[in-house]
Amino acid sequence: MTDRLRHLLTLDGLGGERIDELLDVADAMHPHAMGGTALRHVLAGRTVCNLFFENSTRTRSSFQLAAQRLGADVLNFDIGASSVKKGESALDTLRTLEAMGVDAFVVRHAENGAVAALANGAKPATSLINAGDGRSAHPTQGLLDMLTIRQRKGCDFGALSVLIVGDVLHSRVARSDLHALRQLGCRDVRVCGPASLLPGANVTAGCSVGQTLDAMVEGVDVVMMLRLQRERMEEGLVPSLDQYFRDFGLTPARLARAKPDAIVMHPGPMNRGIEIADDVADGAQSVILDQVANGVAVRMAVLKALLGG
Ligand code: CP
Repeated sequence: MTDRLRHLLTLDGLGGERIDELLDVADAMHPHAMGGTALRHVLAGRTVCNLFFENSTRTRSSFQLAAQRLGADVLNFDIGASSVKKGESALDTLRTLEAMGVDAFVVRHAENGAVAALANGAKPATSLINAGDGRSAHPTQGLLDMLTIRQRKGCDFGALSVLIVGDVLHSRVARSDLHALRQLGCRDVRVCGPASLLPGANVTAGCSVGQTLDAMVEGVDVVMMLRLQRERMEEGLVPSLDQYFRDFGLTPARLARAKPDAIVMHPGPMNRGIEIADDVADGAQSVILDQVANGVAVRMAVLKALLGG
């Protein structure tokens, strides 16, 4: 058993043992993640605040449900209707809500390192969870992705080939997945995308990197597609959305090059017809909605690790 976590800011350096522990707890909580009252005692009397400076469907909703299913009070702070719009800083906002008795903040912010900076300014008893900062990290997405892989492919990550495709350069999801895959012992991690959307060797250390999806997808167990942010075309990083789909879209023909039982993942939101074909997104090998469901279980496990007991 590892020491108690105070914050969850990144998976980098967390260690395989801690990641496995969180995934084991999430697995055990999974039957309760879709509803019921069996675990409502776990965080009774605690208060969790969703503080999202960027939009979200999956992360924000699943943190709300996870906290409620553990019995916590949940404050979904509405940035748009708040004094942030009058110029109040993120830290003053956090301290104001802390003074009202919030125990944990789930924070999403556009700037790299913003959640860590808030954690530095918080009271010693307050916990922060990074729900995505800039392109740095999205640790609970990394955990729910690992749980989804474990459920379908078993715990021996060393035996798996995992391919990450798309805009890796700007993706906090890819970074957290890479952090987790390395620490869980995955040896064959492949990264594929246009040269303009591939990050430097500091991010892809130990991975095979390529720009030809047909070759990179050959024989893999897991294909993780990433969302192409449409503004990348305006920035000139991809020639056109049609061309991107021709080169990097996951079609049934391309997926047929992976192992026959390969799984297809996507963190969402998806751009159908740009990075993934409808019949792959909705096909038998897609586990995209399993990822969503696992998001609730993983976030319950993380909240319990930080606040429970
Ligand atoms: N995967 C993910 O972070 O989705 P949301 O932006 O909807 O939270």
